[in-house]
Amino acid sequence: MTSVPMFRIPRPFDMHTHLRQGPLMRLVTRLTARHFDGAIVMPNTNPPILTGEDACRYQSDIMRSARGANASFLPLTLIKLTMETTPDIIIQAKKLGVVAAKMYPVGVTTNSADGVDLDKLRELYPTFKAMEDTGVILCIHGEVGGDVFVLDREEFFFEYLRQLHRDFPTLRIVLEHITTKAAVDLVRNLGKTVAASITLHHLFLTLNNVLCDPVGAGEFLRPHHACRPYAKRPEDRDALVRAAISGDPKFFWGTDSAPHPFDKKEADCCAAGVWTTPVALPLLVELFEKHEALERLAGFSSQFGLAFYGIKRRTRMLTMVKRAWTVPLAYDVRNGAKFVTKIVPFRAGQKISWKVARY
Ligand code: DOR
Ligand code: ZN
Repeated sequence: MTSVPMFRIPRPFDMHTHLRQGPLMRLVTRLTARHFDGAIVMPNTNPPILTGEDACRYQSDIMRSARGANASFLPLTLIKLTMETTPDIIIQAKKLGVVAAKMYPVGVTTNSADGVDLDKLRELYPTFKAMEDTGVILCIHGEVGGDVFVLDREEFFFEYLRQLHRDFPTLRIVLEHITTKAAVDLVRNLGKTVAASITLHHLFLTLNNVLCDPVGAGEFLRPHHACRPYAKRPEDRDALVRAAISGDPKFFWGTDSAPHPFDKKEADCCAAGVWTTPVALPLLVELFEKHEALERLAGFSSQFGLAFYGIKRRTRMLTMVKRAWTVPLAYDVRNGAKFVTKIVPFRAGQKISWKVARY
């Protein structure tokens, strides 16, 4: 009898995810809570999470949804920065336990029409100062909008990151879901108050997987691989992998798992987002195993992010087992017994070699 490889790791903490609202939130939260100890939850819902009170209400909804799957799941709900976010809103949010606020430049991604106008960034300086003073972290969607060529949008954002870091040197900043070698190099060279999250899908995809995948079978658009910021060149993807397995605590895991109903993805003008929740941890293990870096998995997937945020957790362990399984083609979203829609996971219909054995 051959023995099945198995090992235990601390439950990961997802430093960037989207749990949405309503029936979609209930499904996605349950699945997230099975594999994760907790998550930093993005505020770009509709309506958005704009104040500490909003964040507390949203957090309670999520905790109720997670209860059956993992009663100790900790969702940390962020507030969204708009041009109307005052220092007082930050101070109140901090009092209510909000750990970070998310800045979306106007129009760069899902539900960001009310985001921050980068031409008027200085108008928000009192708000950034309040964040720096109170220790509320600034999470940034690091892309410019407008008519800048889409593949250059991340690099065009760097000047704003440098400016914020220069003017608020003790403000902790997370450049979210970085996609380029240039971003890895920049974050590495900035001070210790700047870190970056790296998603699951940007460790696997290049732009080829969005525009012409599978290679050799004709050329197809893959809307389930379309996200913001887009996956870039192979050398960018490889730089992200090197950063993830490097053991450098400036780089930590945030899946940016972003579900949309299938008809919003398989559509003209499709929604941006890759929903990775059910496969994220198994695929990350596969990747670290391939690079003989399993001993650095816990740093990237739980410890570095929590340390940057200053969050202390007594994290429970999770058992991974090497047993192949096939990813479902879709997951049904239900409201009670009533079918609402379905969502399509990353790697739908494909085989994955690692599995979460017990949770
Ligand atoms: O692809 C993305 N989807 N990127 C984001 O920044 C937002 C997210 C979403 O909320 O759908
Ligand atoms: Zn996101």
